[in-house]
Amino acid sequence: MKILFATPECAPYVKTGGLGDVSAALPAALAAQGHDVRLLIPAYSGMKAAGELGDAVEIPAHGAWPAAQLVPMRLESGVTLLLLTCPVLFQRPGGPYVDAAGRDYQDNALRFGLLSRVAALIGTTRSPCPGWQADIVHANDWPTALAPLYLAQMRALAPGESVAGSVLTIHNLAYQGVFPMETADPLGIPPFWRGIDGVEFWGQLSMLKGGLQFANAITTVSPSYAMEIQTEAFGAGLDGVLRAHASRLHGILNGIDPQVWDPANDLLLPHRYGRGNLHGKAMCKVALQQRCGLAPQSTAMLFGVVSRLTEQKGIDLVLDALPRLIASGGQLAVLGQGEPALQEALRAAAAQHPGQVSVKLGFDEGIAHLIEAGADAFLMPSRFEPCGLNQMYSQAYGTPPIVAPVGGLLDSVTDATSDPVHGTGFVMRSTDADALADAIDRAVTAWREPLRWKKLQANGMARDFSWGKSVARYAEIYATAAVRPASPA
Ligand code: ADP
Ligand code: GLC
Repeated sequence: MKILFATPECAPYVKTGGLGDVSAALPAALAAQGHDVRLLIPAYSGMKAAGELGDAVEIPAHGAWPAAQLVPMRLESGVTLLLLTCPVLFQRPGGPYVDAAGRDYQDNALRFGLLSRVAALIGTTRSPCPGWQADIVHANDWPTALAPLYLAQMRALAPGESVAGSVLTIHNLAYQGVFPMETADPLGIPPFWRGIDGVEFWGQLSMLKGGLQFANAITTVSPSYAMEIQTEAFGAGLDGVLRAHASRLHGILNGIDPQVWDPANDLLLPHRYGRGNLHGKAMCKVALQQRCGLAPQSTAMLFGVVSRLTEQKGIDLVLDALPRLIASGGQLAVLGQGEPALQEALRAAAAQHPGQVSVKLGFDEGIAHLIEAGADAFLMPSRFEPCGLNQMYSQAYGTPPIVAPVGGLLDSVTDATSDPVHGTGFVMRSTDADALADAIDRAVTAWREPLRWKKLQANGMARDFSWGKSVARYAEIYATAAVRPASPA
């Protein structure tokens, strides 16, 4: 099947969170199953060529959008990256969504509207890719969510013409791409789709809602989150829409990429290790303590955090539980970046507990891997978590996670208190600071019993987090969503 995976980020070229990891791993896993996969992504500044570049094709200017080019780049995995090149929209200092000062780009609707429109075009007979029309356009999150709407529009304008089916994956419902309704004009959204059954969201235009209304299938990244987002508490205002589309909504757990996240082969680690021999892990702890300026104590239980610093991730709960953690002789190593108030509070905690708390602000792959390997346990007390990858990485690295009872965390961690035989971590009883402190206490008690802890580590390291089963589910959903007859893969 010909699959176009449209995404605003893909590791290692551009990544702000888990979507970057998934955009690298899932298309590669689909290609390994024999699918013909292309990945559409903007050519941001600073992206380095990692494969042979093919001939550029022109995409003429259209309405408010300037002309652009598609530059193919074939990767070793067999996936072809299609770099959407439009320097005025994408070549800027700063990140994919925000400028160097952390403010949203003013023209994000137009930038990601173009990404969505080009994704849709590739699913039509007017595809700009020579000899290649997608059977399925797989959109991811709000920056590509208008692709299903544009496909529906193209289908309506040319009945009888073959047009790709669409799948929209929600990686995080908290980000919806909401803009003033006037944006509908430059985005080319017809007036009759600007109402409550179309893109309208409290008087504004929601790109994500538009995608949900028109996608042939909707997926999200864990079964628990698929249920949660149909409730008011987790639905971020879209629970009604999601309930209305419940029969087309599927929860499929993410996997992890063993090429990148395997402690036995991880070249970012100073020492490698595997299930049978954790000596390298102990050496990584020493290296982590040294790198972070923590006291070099093997007897201090070291807790790690690698996270975007947002309300979602419950970093404030970590700060609230910190006195208990320190009192039990623990240490904390945090790597993250995000909201200024959380950064400041973390910095203050590090200053207050020198040698016991380390905070690194910024984005650093090397330290992220070192924390996964060198910490004894990993903290992830998220208020909501669509899937979460770090708790899977930490299990694979023999670093049992302490997690909140939500979303993908529930679907990927087995609580060792209630199930000592199969336990892989500690699940908090609720999402608050007391429950986190309680889970930390349970972890400290278990860590002091080396045989018990080893079992916990071994259980996590043995767990299958590969993409296999999930890729098969996506393939099934593509088959049902493909409107035109699929060509042989
Ligand atoms: P989310 O996508 O909500 O941020 P996930 O757990 O799915 O959460 O994925 C986060 C990914 O981003 C992981 O690969 C994690 O290691 C990485 N990450 C987050 N913050 C940082 C950081 N400051 N430096 C390096 N990697 C980070
Ligand atoms: C989002 C979610 C995270 C998920 C990731 C990849 O950023 O917050 O839970 O793992 O997307 O799907």
